[in-house]
Amino acid sequence: MNSISIIGAGRLGKTLARLAQGSGRYRVLDVMTRRLESARAACEFIGAGRPVCDWAQLAPADLYLLAVPDAAIADCAQALAAAGVVPPGAVVFHASGVSESGMLQPLAARGAHLGSLHPAFSFADPERAAEYFVDVLCALEGDAPACAALRTLAQAVGGRPFQLATGGKPAYHAALSVASNYLVTLTAMAQELARQGGVPVELLTPLLSGLMRQTLENALALGPQAALTGPIVRGDASTVALHLQAMDDAGLRAAYQALGRQTAALAGERLSEPARRQVLNALEPAEDSGR
Ligand SMILES: NC(=O)c1ccc[n+]([C@@H]2O[C@H](COP(=O)([O-])OP(=O)(O)OC[C@H]3O[C@@H](n4cnc5c(N)ncnc54)[C@H](OP(=O)(O)O)[C@@H]3O)[C@@H](O)[C@H]2O)c1
Repeated sequence: MNSISIIGAGRLGKTLARLAQGSGRYRVLDVMTRRLESARAACEFIGAGRPVCDWAQLAPADLYLLAVPDAAIADCAQALAAAGVVPPGAVVFHASGVSESGMLQPLAARGAHLGSLHPAFSFADPERAAEYFVDVLCALEGDAPACAALRTLAQAVGGRPFQLATGGKPAYHAALSVASNYLVTLTAMAQELARQGGVPVELLTPLLSGLMRQTLENALALGPQAALTGPIVRGDASTVALHLQAMDDAGLRAAYQALGRQTAALAGERLSEPARRQVLNALEPAEDSGR
């Protein structure tokens, strides 16, 4: 049975530790935070582990998860390396979505294998997270022995691991941000425009929700290009111009223009060359003059 120690036992750390312990394939060894009370509470939640607050107290383990906030990972890696407690051949990994295992580099000099494991999942509430962590896609990156160990761990805790290309983390994480955060921003933009057009507040959600759900289903089922409808793919430049004239807010207009250009590119050969030129012309920021 492999042993795993957790440095940083917040929402993600203690959830993964509980799942690892519960799998029967890992033994949670040390649970380290900066305050003993939080380490003790985490051990209680995990149902295993020894609360620790001092790097020098860490026992040798097979795996170390640095589940501290992203901004603290590099310093913790440095401190863990300096403590000289990590045995050669151990796997040290973090769970950041955007950073790679390179930020753990000081531990390579100690003979550790380095990786990262990012579950595409929200750990807002650890109790619920532990319950619903089923078939969750987990992005892996790192050296070959680390990735092999993390693949096994991800499967044991209920995840579905997949490998990222080296250097791919920032683009991978940007994809998740666009899919999640920008979808929320688009919802707000659509609501604002509908409100400006006189749609009663209580009808904003009913008006947009059916259309948004259907469009998302189509984009995921048919692929984005085939799912595209509306004035841009039809080459209706005059409608695009009317939309922009209706927008008083410069930020909203700039976002509409930028997304319009992306939409024209996505339309590909569904848009004839003359129509594409007219649409791109209508989307030009120069159209904003006088506002
Ligand atoms: N939350 C999510 O949904 C989610 C999803 C995917 C990935 N992640 C990644 O998971 C990692 C952890 O995120 P989280 O949301 O679990 O954070 P969190 O809930 O804020 O927990 C951070 C933990 O680290 C401890 N800590 C902070 N600084 C420390 C330090 N210098 N040394 C030792 N322990 C320290 C904190 O305890 P004390 O304050 O008591 O020290 C706490 O236990 C991050 O890399 C994040 O990007 C999170």
